[in-house]
Amino acid sequence: MQKTIEATTEAMEMVEGLKSRNKRIFSKFFYDSEGSRIFQQIMGMPEYYLTACEAEIFETHKRNIGAMFCSECFSVDLVELGAGDGQKTRILIEDLISENVNFRYIPIDISEQAVTHLVDDMQGRFPNLTIETRIGDYFHMLEDLSRDYPNRKVVMFLGSNLGNFNYHQSITFLGQLQKALGNDDMLFIGLDLKKDPEVIRKAYNDPHGYTREFNLNLLRRMNRELGADFNPDHFTHEPCYDSGTGAAKSYLVSTRDQEVYFSGIDETISFRQWETIYTERSQKYDMEMIREMAEASGFHMAKNFFDDRKFFVNSLWKKQ
Ligand code: AVI
Repeated sequence: MQKTIEATTEAMEMVEGLKSRNKRIFSKFFYDSEGSRIFQQIMGMPEYYLTACEAEIFETHKRNIGAMFCSECFSVDLVELGAGDGQKTRILIEDLISENVNFRYIPIDISEQAVTHLVDDMQGRFPNLTIETRIGDYFHMLEDLSRDYPNRKVVMFLGSNLGNFNYHQSITFLGQLQKALGNDDMLFIGLDLKKDPEVIRKAYNDPHGYTREFNLNLLRRMNRELGADFNPDHFTHEPCYDSGTGAAKSYLVSTRDQEVYFSGIDETISFRQWETIYTERSQKYDMEMIREMAEASGFHMAKNFFDDRKFFVNSLWKKQ
């Protein structure tokens, strides 16, 4: 068995979700090192249009975006929540540097490993860039920044990461963010838009099988870390998209009656044939939904930037 998720809250959260009547695993558990590796493969495939669309928006509109970040202010803290590999953010950073803008880049992530990697990469490319990293909980980090520095904060939450929350969680999260920001600060959020349902279905059911592996890795992870004996061949990856609500959801479906033993915690969980485990929601939005979310959480939309096909939007929000 690999490093066990200590039989603590984390492990219990995973297992409790499997014991409930409607079985589920929270999507934060996708991102162990194997899951993060598979997610990089997903982001690199043409079917997962989200990454390329957001990069296109940055390439096309970087000067306008940069100008809005810095309008009527002397120095900016560019704060990125869940920064990942920072690949798209580089486009904006390069532009700000070429325009001699006075700014610091502050990636915040819960994974120390991800942030260290990102800093090495950014520092190699931009030796004079001021980077301050923060590891840990987003809101605590933002409160610290507000207390310690007067600079305008532009908080970036990219890649439609908000879409992994349901509506209620989104409003709670955005509301907390709004409270942690000062009156002059901004939120720059990337969201995936409703479009031809077939395009969305292909992004979450790709012909390379990466998304399937990403989903099944949840079971492999429990085998590695909780000593479970899942046979991934006895589950199927089941993505579906409801164009009415805009919710793309993923499930793992048990193809037979089966029992799985977790030796790390000495528990057995039963699965009925065709019973589902709900693993992820990836919400797709229209502009009305986005406006409503902004207003319900105390923001207003200042400006929207789209890619050519209007597949994706980066929306700049200010406090109401
Ligand atoms: C990280 N998140 C925005 C991705 C999404 O599209 O919901 C995760 C993902 N799941 C399957 N493919 C990508």
